[in-house]
Amino acid sequence: MNQPRILLQLDCDQQPSSFDAVVAIDSNVDHLLPYANVEAQSVVPLVHGAIFTRGPEQLKQTAIFVGGSDVGRGDEIGAAIRAAFVGPMRVSVMLDGNGSNTTAAAAVLCAARHLPLEGATATILGGTGPVGVRAARLLLQQGAAVHLVSRNLERAEQTCHQIASELPEAVTSGLQPTAADQVDAVLTDTSLLLACGAAGVRLLSATQLALASQLQVAIDLNAVPPAGLEGIDVMDKAMQRGNRIDYGAIGVGGLKMKLHRAAIQRLFSANDLFLDTSEIFQIGLDLEAARQSSA
Ligand SMILES: NC(=O)c1ccc[n+]([C@@H]2O[C@H](COP(=O)([O-])OP(=O)(O)OC[C@H]3O[C@@H](n4cnc5c(N)ncnc54)[C@H](OP(=O)(O)O)[C@@H]3O)[C@@H](O)[C@H]2O)c1
Repeated sequence: MNQPRILLQLDCDQQPSSFDAVVAIDSNVDHLLPYANVEAQSVVPLVHGAIFTRGPEQLKQTAIFVGGSDVGRGDEIGAAIRAAFVGPMRVSVMLDGNGSNTTAAAAVLCAARHLPLEGATATILGGTGPVGVRAARLLLQQGAAVHLVSRNLERAEQTCHQIASELPEAVTSGLQPTAADQVDAVLTDTSLLLACGAAGVRLLSATQLALASQLQVAIDLNAVPPAGLEGIDVMDKAMQRGNRIDYGAIGVGGLKMKLHRAAIQRLFSANDLFLDTSEIFQIGLDLEAARQSSA
């Protein structure tokens, strides 16, 4: 007989995310314990409270979710949680600061419904942000080439350097830093376009979008007007426009929500999972495989 499912919601913000709380409850968590203003230095007692209260066979009924608006701080909290485990006394953990992992994974999975990622040429606008970086990593791991775009070339180069240090083998498929004012040139051979810029920022005009004659899939993750990609509607979900398939933020959002819930549920299948970008993407691949087999 399993004990109730308990999720500790560790959030770096003053108020723990109500979004993450609702999704947790919708994912069949029995008891949600939200903590605010969490810092890496403060996690040890929280982790020890989670790992020393239930027997080893019941530890999979306790899990930790790390969220909040500062994604870098969330990553530090994740590392501190891992360091606080004591041998087999551990619980499963999911990182999704600002929805960055579930959003990047869902966007890449939407793209994969329409074109093979291996061999694709992707351009990521706003590529230096948490979502852009995660989407770049996933696309490189799937064998796509990536033009990573920033308003500042140096920032794009630094981000690419960081990704290359984590994924040296994936970078052989081609990771190119690109300045936003040079984006028109790379659009001509782009087959997949991801707009991952800040909310409410127009990144590309319809005229520029028309330069991308090889474009098969365009995804705009910005839900706040004006659209990141002019002409793409926030509700677009596999909307065919000419030779192109378009997704807006809410169009991707259905899969993002499904993936978020599935990842929370997966936490309670074992006590030693650590769900970061790649693991969450893998859960998404499993969902997509199940979707295809039931179609
Ligand atoms: N649907 C969802 O649940 C969900 C969840 C998470 C995120 N999102 C959306 O996904 C997108 C990406 O999220 P994020 O957290 O990675 O974004 P972010 O960190 O706010 O911004 C991403 C990048 O946009 C660029 N940028 C910032 N201000 C800009 C401006 N005024 N003009 C042009 N570029 C600008 C910056 O790159 P440079 O300075 O290097 O140019 C920044 O690194 C956002 O639109 C966000 O709202 C949606």
